[in-house]
Amino acid sequence: MSLKNWDNKTWLSSPSYIKSFNSFLLKQIKLNKNSQILDIGCGRGKILGSLSSKLSLKRKSIGIDIENHKDRDKRIIFKKIDALKFLKKNKKRFDLILLKQTIHLFKIKDIKTILKLSKRLLNSNGKIIIFTLDPIDNEIPTFSIMEKKLNKALIRDKKIIKSISYSFKGKIVRGFSYKVKISKKKYMEMVNSKYISVLLGMSHKLISNGLNEIKKKYKKQISFQDKLICLVLNR
Ligand SMILES: C[S@@+](CC[C@H](N)C(=O)[O-])C[C@H]1O[C@@H](n2cnc3c(N)ncnc32)[C@H](O)[C@@H]1O
Repeated sequence: MSLKNWDNKTWLSSPSYIKSFNSFLLKQIKLNKNSQILDIGCGRGKILGSLSSKLSLKRKSIGIDIENHKDRDKRIIFKKIDALKFLKKNKKRFDLILLKQTIHLFKIKDIKTILKLSKRLLNSNGKIIIFTLDPIDNEIPTFSIMEKKLNKALIRDKKIIKSISYSFKGKIVRGFSYKVKISKKKYMEMVNSKYISVLLGMSHKLISNGLNEIKKKYKKQISFQDKLICLVLNR
């Protein structure tokens, strides 16, 4: 099961979302044109591509993902590889290692290994920055079974964040919030294409019942805040 449709022409790949995300990111770390960046689970790589342009990076950033999208961003070096495999063999150093909405997809023991290996690859002022859905305060539109699964996943996320921030002495930063305005029709298409990981294991029947629920529950235009929390780990 893979996440092919996460940033497939959704708000998550829109220029305004990316602009707002990157300006929040740059408040957490000082980067310049010489910075070297790695994005683990980069999806189509649009965020990293846009960040590279904004900083006028001298060297191309590296984005890795197990999915290889035809329409991926060409401003980055993309590698189709599993995060652990890449980190074990890579020798390059980075100023920023970004994991945006990807950490929850790994097993707990793999998360620890990923972070230990990542730490070793940081330059002296380098940082690992992890973004994940705000586990306490989120407004993602759901249908009932989706909501239950999401809440369960968020409890796990909360434990992951707590455990990482304790073991790696990380700093939790709240406050990234993006106002999403989306037609119910488009959001239903996103749900149908299983854009978010909690939908991945669901049968066609469950999704189709869920879509009927969403149809009744929401107005023609859906608006909500997409809220993330961020965890900053220093070397
Ligand atoms: C929810 S998406 C986030 C994409 C992007 N970071 C963003 O925020 O727009 C999670 C991404 O992690 C990738 N992924 C999942 N497991 C992975 C692994 N073992 N190694 C590398 N990438 C992985 C998925 O293919 C997917 O593109």
